[in-house]
Amino acid sequence: MNEFQILKSDITQSRIIKSQLNVDAPLAAGEILLKVDKFGFTANNVTYAAAGDQLGYWQFFPASSNETDTWGIIPVWGFADVVASKAEGVDSGERVFGYYPTNSYLKMQNVKVLENRLIDGAEHRSKLPPGYNTYRRVATEPDYDRSMDDMRMLLWPLYITSFCLWDSLQHNDWYGAKQVIVISASSKTSIGLAYALAADTDSPTSIGLTSSGNQKWIAGLDLYDKTMNYDALEEIDATVPTVIVDMSGNSQLLTDIHAHLGDSLVHCLNVGLTHWSEGGKDTGIPADKREFFFAPSHIQMRIKEWGIEEFDSKSSQFIADSSKRSADWMKIVRLIGVEKLADIYADVCAGKLPPEKALVIEL
Ligand SMILES: NC(=O)c1ccc[n+]([C@@H]2O[C@H](COP(=O)([O-])OP(=O)(O)OC[C@H]3O[C@@H](n4cnc5c(N)ncnc54)[C@H](OP(=O)(O)O)[C@@H]3O)[C@@H](O)[C@H]2O)c1
Repeated sequence: MNEFQILKSDITQSRIIKSQLNVDAPLAAGEILLKVDKFGFTANNVTYAAAGDQLGYWQFFPASSNETDTWGIIPVWGFADVVASKAEGVDSGERVFGYYPTNSYLKMQNVKVLENRLIDGAEHRSKLPPGYNTYRRVATEPDYDRSMDDMRMLLWPLYITSFCLWDSLQHNDWYGAKQVIVISASSKTSIGLAYALAADTDSPTSIGLTSSGNQKWIAGLDLYDKTMNYDALEEIDATVPTVIVDMSGNSQLLTDIHAHLGDSLVHCLNVGLTHWSEGGKDTGIPADKREFFFAPSHIQMRIKEWGIEEFDSKSSQFIADSSKRSADWMKIVRLIGVEKLADIYADVCAGKLPPEKALVIEL
């Protein structure tokens, strides 16, 4: 029973270690033991590591054999099956979608059992965003289709963000912009946003900005109105009011775009860190023109305003449609065991995986 861990001080370093979780120990009241079946892994998971300290991602799943607190576990989205339960209404065999550690088992504690959801009430997770502690009981979903598990665990966390980004942009009247620049345009979260922008006749012109190596591929999907690459920023029309949606976190790139656009840059949503090793420096974008966009907060806000049913139905339709379209280009690479993830992890950190590839790790 191996656990995949990351060195917090240098997230390119990882190790495989034997998990200290005793799966044979009797459960206390309110506990559930789940066996992780499989999970997805993309740049989003590397971002969890890069932002592990600032945003608390290391706190979800405490690492084994970690007396000096130097190692952390990256959370992943996946499916698990209940193998033992002391929570009323939850039986062995039930399948659950949600947030898991990169090892074979998760023990939930103090579980709140709802009709469609389980909430892990473990003390160490109590201050973390509720969306990450909530698990879907897929047997209660009328449309659940197990053959879609891979697409769901890979794309749901990304496309729900794409939906929220589109929702936020249109809710804010696009900040008055006439063009939207999506940076790291070949990432799946960006592609989801491109689907949403293309479907919205009121949306401004979309520009997908990407690396020169990925430009041809993303242009071939024909989702953005224009595609450009990081070496040709001068081709961006700087006379047009522009909103940036940034998945890259690349400080120099943002500095250069800001310098090029000047006052035409009306707003910047800082969403991701795909270029995590290029981040952290001041970009010169004034504080009142930029904001950190955190999908779990947007979701909570909309659930409060719309109610969970309405939010679910609006976002699910978008995610289902977008996932269906993604099956045309996404190529799933299947790995068996966390050891195989460890073998490829450095390449994922370095951005060496082609954008169409998506990792599924089966345990
Ligand atoms: N704030 C939120 O709530 C939220 C929610 C979901 C996702 N996100 C963020 O959105 C971002 C995209 O995630 P994803 O899973 O959709 O990504 P993905 O599909 O795995 O993205 C792959 C793309 O990212 C770029 N990339 C990845 N690693 C790189 C590296 N080391 N150096 C340079 N470029 C690299 C490349 O795009 P280019 O060549 O086009 O740059 C690559 O094609 C992540 O940072 C994720 O955390 C944020």
